[in-house]
Amino acid sequence: MILDGKAVSEKRLELLKEKIEESGLYPRLATVIVGDDPASQMYVRMKHRACERVGIGSIGIELPADASNERVLEAVARLNNDPDINGILVQLPLPAGVDARRVIDAISPDKDVDGFHPCNIGRLFSGDPLFAPCTPQGIMTILEEYHIPTAGEHAVVIGRSIDVGRPMAALLLNADATVTICHSKTRDLKGEARRADILVSAVGKARFVGPDMVKEGATVIDVGINHDEDGKLCGDLDFEAVKDLAGAITPVPGGVGPMTIATLMENTFKAARLRACSSITAR
Ligand code: GUN
Repeated sequence: MILDGKAVSEKRLELLKEKIEESGLYPRLATVIVGDDPASQMYVRMKHRACERVGIGSIGIELPADASNERVLEAVARLNNDPDINGILVQLPLPAGVDARRVIDAISPDKDVDGFHPCNIGRLFSGDPLFAPCTPQGIMTILEEYHIPTAGEHAVVIGRSIDVGRPMAALLLNADATVTICHSKTRDLKGEARRADILVSAVGKARFVGPDMVKEGATVIDVGINHDEDGKLCGDLDFEAVKDLAGAITPVPGGVGPMTIATLMENTFKAARLRACSSITAR
């Protein structure tokens, strides 16, 4: 079974559009981009387009590649204090001269729709998430939409990044899976992967996961966005070699990618609802 992330994201965006209309709220997302990396600019444009589609207002702050830490922090502080802004997304990676950790730590946790602030990571790991990072949360949505059970299943996550591997493991654990996190120092990576009922690869290496790493019938999720030696877009999986072995599999493109943006929209609406609730309580 091919897990069609594009179709799931379309469905979720339509549903969200209706929910936003019914709510009478006008959520607003601010994006911050530092420098002129074309891939980052394209991702941010896609995020703004998705906002427009579902009825979320968006503003984009663009800073030059040589912007100082202070300048980026100042932009974040302004957005934190702006009552009209519900969600803040600082596009990563940031240029080498900007301290990404300081910038992320400066985002108000209740506007942190990326879910990267330590408060939100901590809440996620304590089993009480507010905003979970969009890519792993989007993967959980795919699993739910296709009724793929997680409770008691053995999930193996390859990669320990703060934006995917770690929060993915926490989300799967919160959904009652037995979770193993693998990384570059894992002794028997292939053996660990082969034990997975649900295998999530977030490595960033073209065709890293071959048939010798996949148990028959496993659900295999590909987070990689890579280019092979011919410059062709591909994921972490050797898709052709693995697809008949897997019970369910995400393609690249059209798998996990579209879910990241759909989840960002859902998180932004959540931030707007939370703010609306808190302003009613405060009155
Ligand atoms: N760069 C690549 N993916 C992401 C993401 O999900 N959020 C942010 N802020 N930057 C990214």
